[in-house]
Amino acid sequence: MKTDRADILSLLRNSTDYVSGQQLCDKFGVTRTAVWKVMNQLKEDGYLIESVPHKGYRLLKSPDDILSESEIASRLTTEWAGEKICYYDVTGSTNNDAKRLGEEGTPHGTVVVADVQNAGKGRRGRGWQTLPGTALAFTLLLRPVFAADKASMITLVMALSVAQAVEKMAGVAATIKWPNDIVVSGRKICGMLTEMTMTPEMDEIQYIVIGAGINVNNASPEEFAEDIRDKATSLRIETGRLFNRAELLNEILNRFEANYEIFLKTLDLSGIKEDYQKRLQGVGGEVRVLDPAGEYTGVSQGIDDSGELIVIKENGETVRVYAGEVSVRGLYGYV
Ligand code: BTN
Repeated sequence: MKTDRADILSLLRNSTDYVSGQQLCDKFGVTRTAVWKVMNQLKEDGYLIESVPHKGYRLLKSPDDILSESEIASRLTTEWAGEKICYYDVTGSTNNDAKRLGEEGTPHGTVVVADVQNAGKGRRGRGWQTLPGTALAFTLLLRPVFAADKASMITLVMALSVAQAVEKMAGVAATIKWPNDIVVSGRKICGMLTEMTMTPEMDEIQYIVIGAGINVNNASPEEFAEDIRDKATSLRIETGRLFNRAELLNEILNRFEANYEIFLKTLDLSGIKEDYQKRLQGVGGEVRVLDPAGEYTGVSQGIDDSGELIVIKENGETVRVYAGEVSVRGLYGYV
């Protein structure tokens, strides 16, 4: 029934004219009663559907923002990313869900999405808050065939994809705080957490999960936890508009497919480096590298083809900072 709902919804969304009940029955092999039930469910969810006798149904308006499996599936225009969608109204962490599905053999491209996470995970063992109706929290599972040392670059591929999607949908400039925070107006709008699982023999990647949490419809800074209030923002705060999270997800996944294909050709970031770099914050400026082995200050030169940040230290030494190990701060404030 869920698939019928998504299929019917996408047919309505993509038709400019009325779609007759008979057409829907024939196309999806369902009864008139089933079609009628789906229409009622959709109306209950806030879709404005006109039904005219002898003509059929027409979708007049979708809710500004609704997150559901059918909404997501009906918006997807990707080739493979999101071919399988697992949606939860409430879950612990979409990364953990994706890893569980990974163990169960879920296919490459599976996407887990949740409206609420009550045990969301951030980087460096921190938590990540996902409150109802506000964020796009999703995890994409990949089953790549490349060597494990290439995996850290995938997060940068996703970072570029999110920045591009945010720019396209919201019309705001999105910058990247190396390696993968997305920043708008000097405040963080998205964080990412990538986790990799090797095969039991430890010689190949079994799967990688890339989780992203994007602040979309948070109405005001007061909605963020106190400790991040002055560092975080949302698309709504920046633009004054509500965004459809399923549409944003579709945009991100389309961008990811395109960028990932470029990455796969060379197995490095050479093909997307220019696009990444022009959004990268602080190039040519001073940064502080919070390396557990010893903090230091230097001037950022941007990334190399493997996504490492090139920093020239005060003593003239050039260091390549590996994304997995350290955190980099601009000398002034969050960015
Ligand atoms: C960070 O610390 O900046 C990374 C935050 C990553 C949050 C996302 S939300 C979706 C996915 N599920 C999780 O538990 N974490 C990631």
